[in-house]
Amino acid sequence: MRKVLIANWKMYYGPVKAGAWVRAFRRERLPKDIDISIAVPFVSLAAARASLGRATIPALAAQDVFWEKEGAFTGEVSPSMLLEFGVSVCIVGHSERRLLVGETDEMVAKKAEALQKAGITPVICVGETEAQRKKGQAAKVVRAQVEAAIKDVKPDGKAAAIIAYEPIWAIGTGKPCRPVDAKEMHDVIRDVIAKVWGARYRDDIRVIYGGSVNERNVTEYTTTTGIDGALVGSASLDPRTFALVCRAAVPA
Ligand code: 13P
Repeated sequence: MRKVLIANWKMYYGPVKAGAWVRAFRRERLPKDIDISIAVPFVSLAAARASLGRATIPALAAQDVFWEKEGAFTGEVSPSMLLEFGVSVCIVGHSERRLLVGETDEMVAKKAEALQKAGITPVICVGETEAQRKKGQAAKVVRAQVEAAIKDVKPDGKAAAIIAYEPIWAIGTGKPCRPVDAKEMHDVIRDVIAKVWGARYRDDIRVIYGGSVNERNVTEYTTTTGIDGALVGSASLDPRTFALVCRAAVPA
């Protein structure tokens, strides 16, 4: 299965800086045999698209979406609006949205389903807090999040879901989850996939890791069986650093 790397800029870079980032990144040497996406703020999609031109690498991604097609939903953005910018991937259920704006499992499920219907790949984020891990509840928490999110999602097709395991204690802390521990949680996620979608999908769905991934440690994840790539926050803010992450992800 092709590995995937997704840059998540979070709330960084308006249109001006986004355009400059994309132009700088396009000058970098990038591996061909990996899928690279950049998740940019809504307001920067147009500038990122313009700087990308017809280039398909990196693919353009969004960081959130609303599940309705259109209507009186002040402040929200629909899947079809994202399609107008050529967005092909969209993050849902990031822990920052769950914690800061109250996104629930139910909302994550609706967003993932709406994205797939529009042909956009949902990247469903799950992960436990430090307290939950310390109490031995990590697997239980993540299992419940994945079950709730994928119930109405399809495993097949060009917009097959990607699941991102992002332990909250590893995000932005410089304290990554050890690959062996991440693999254990990826196996838990794959067990849910097998239960909900059937055994044949267990190893067919991309499950990626996020949390303090950088150019020095990314290889440890991408060379671990069962980890299909990474979601990269801080180390994606500089285009040269993110290019280093991309090159390190697929060792020659
Ligand atoms: P960091 O890479 O900054 O830890 O962020 C991870 C993340 O939240 C990506 O979605």
